[in-house]
Amino acid sequence: MRKLCAVSVSAALFFTLALLILSLSTSSHRRRAVAERSWGSDTHESLFNPRRRELVDEIEERVEEIIRYQEPVRRPQPVGGSDPDRVRESSFGRSHTASDVFSVLWEKARGADDNRIRGALGCSDFRNITGIEFLGSGYTKTVLKGNLQDGTGIALKAVNSQGNEVMRCIRRYGQARDCYRLAAYKIIKEITLLQKLRHPNIIQLYGQCYDNSLEDGPVITAVIELGTPVEMIKLLQTPWEERFRICLSLVKLLHYLAHSPLGSVLLLDFQPHQFVIVDGELKVTDLDDVSTEELSCKTDSDCVLEFPTRNFNLQCGAEGKCQRINEKRNLYNAFRFFFTYLLPYSAPSALRPLLCEIMNATGDLRYGINKTLETFEEVLHLYKSGLHRINRSQSWLEGYKIFEGFRIQENSDYKCWPSYNHQGCLLSVHNKEEAAAICHSQQQCQSFIITQQTTWPGRYLVSFRSSTDLIWDINSTVYMKSSSLRALM
Ligand SMILES: Nc1ncnc2c1ncn2[C@@H]1O[C@H](COP(=O)(O)OP(=O)(O)O)[C@@H](O)[C@H]1O
Ligand SMILES: *[C@@H]1O[C@H](CO)[C@@H](O)[C@H](O)[C@H]1NC(C)=O
Ligand SMILES: *[C@@H]1O[C@H](CO)[C@@H](O)[C@H](O)[C@H]1NC(C)=O
Ligand SMILES: *[C@@H]1O[C@H](CO)[C@@H](O)[C@H](O)[C@H]1NC(C)=O
Ligand SMILES: *[C@@H]1O[C@H](CO)[C@@H](O)[C@H](O)[C@H]1NC(C)=O
Ligand SMILES: *[C@@H]1O[C@H](CO)[C@@H](O)[C@H](O)[C@H]1NC(C)=O
Ligand SMILES: [Mg+2]
Repeated sequence: MRKLCAVSVSAALFFTLALLILSLSTSSHRRRAVAERSWGSDTHESLFNPRRRELVDEIEERVEEIIRYQEPVRRPQPVGGSDPDRVRESSFGRSHTASDVFSVLWEKARGADDNRIRGALGCSDFRNITGIEFLGSGYTKTVLKGNLQDGTGIALKAVNSQGNEVMRCIRRYGQARDCYRLAAYKIIKEITLLQKLRHPNIIQLYGQCYDNSLEDGPVITAVIELGTPVEMIKLLQTPWEERFRICLSLVKLLHYLAHSPLGSVLLLDFQPHQFVIVDGELKVTDLDDVSTEELSCKTDSDCVLEFPTRNFNLQCGAEGKCQRINEKRNLYNAFRFFFTYLLPYSAPSALRPLLCEIMNATGDLRYGINKTLETFEEVLHLYKSGLHRINRSQSWLEGYKIFEGFRIQENSDYKCWPSYNHQGCLLSVHNKEEAAAICHSQQQCQSFIITQQTTWPGRYLVSFRSSTDLIWDINSTVYMKSSSLRALM
């Protein structure tokens, strides 16, 4: 699956690498020596092995990329805008070595002046982590779950020494230690990006530990917010409202990435398993495989956005970059991996025209991310305000008798889909009228109770019941179909 993406972005990647190689060539001898030293590397003679040299070059490219993310973005600043953060960061020269990158990261995490990560966790906090469990692994990393002393759940990311990245490297270069380092830089890249890119739909970085004291070489561990891996099959079984929330989270994320402090960020590997769910929100967790370069071009014909089933022709902008190509690639991926599965199915009928428009417009890349977000927010607004349900020509509520101070006997009852609980029929509604309409439409439903719980857009959870056994409860109100009431008497 990773291949799928790799094919279509090869041009962008190639460009990125070409740029890096160019920028490295001026000072590559110094850098090579520096990179060797800073990792306390094996022998000097190994440098004359061309394969090993290739590997060292790969490592250097990664270091160089990380340093670029550390530096301020050279973009026109708003007039009069002098950001003190940027001034501080630009004191960062270009002569950094691998261990400098580590120590700078380290200082940043520890430094009290950076209040976004104040109280960041470090190595000493790791000694007391309990309840370690395996969460998942991917191309580069292994992710474990753990609990801090106060019980907070966290996720720990480290190099997956059995993973494809390390194994592929070892097969190619036969240098286990250096291959491990190569992968370690992916984690450092991710940490750097997590520090620069802060958004509710990007997994939060809590801290990191760079341990240089181990015999097998340095180990880097990132400590991040704990989530639940995305399982599409499970998501497909959740209520539309929850699936819409996942898609909306993704759109908010892509809007942020398109206008991020690092420029327009492209997620190179855009598959559901690069995301996790935290309290019902989608968050991207795998940030090592991203690019901030927009494809360069001379003519429009250089700007073909390729996907396995279709291509798009974009325009070559005046600055010699394909216009908004990163934003568009992300958006089409959101369409093909998420929207098509999660958005239309069992949506409220009155929202369908708008949702179809979103599907059609993102599927054809007619909308940019701004317009997509706007339209999603319109859907949310309609849904929250219940406008999509209002039908003044019919009031079902009139057919219900109200029993204040009662609830329905707890016993097994009929199930419906997609219920918020597995034992019964618990659905979200805008108001009593909508609940009455739902109960009317379900043959088994005789009564319903509006619970105190609400769902994320603020809709009420209503328990629909086939039972009519009332019991006293000061805090509850039962709405019972008048027809079932007559049957009782
Ligand atoms: N914060 C997290 N909470 C829970 N699971 C996670 C978290 N981060 C990652 N995972 C799981 O670990 C897997 C590997 O993590 P990822 O960062 O994607 O590594 P790789 O770069 O190797 O693909 C993910 O597919 C996901 O299932
Ligand atoms: C870890 O636990 C030990 C013993 O329970 C305690 O003395 C120490 O302060 C704890 N360290 C941290 C960082 O919480
Ligand atoms: C969008 O609608 C047009 C016109 O109905 C149709 O030709 C096109 O295939 C649709 N695109 C998608 C992605 O559904
Ligand atoms: C999209 O929105 C961002 C921020 O909200 C804004 O800076 C940008 O100019 C907008 N882009 C377009 C094409 O409207
Ligand atoms: C509104 O109620 C009327 C009468 O029951 C019905 O014919 C019509 O289809 C309803 N409209 C909607 C949008 O549900
Ligand atoms: C009713 O609600 C009040 C306040 O929320 C609570 O204190 C009380 O225990 C509840 N009574 C019952 C029977 O659940
Ligand atoms: Mg991954």
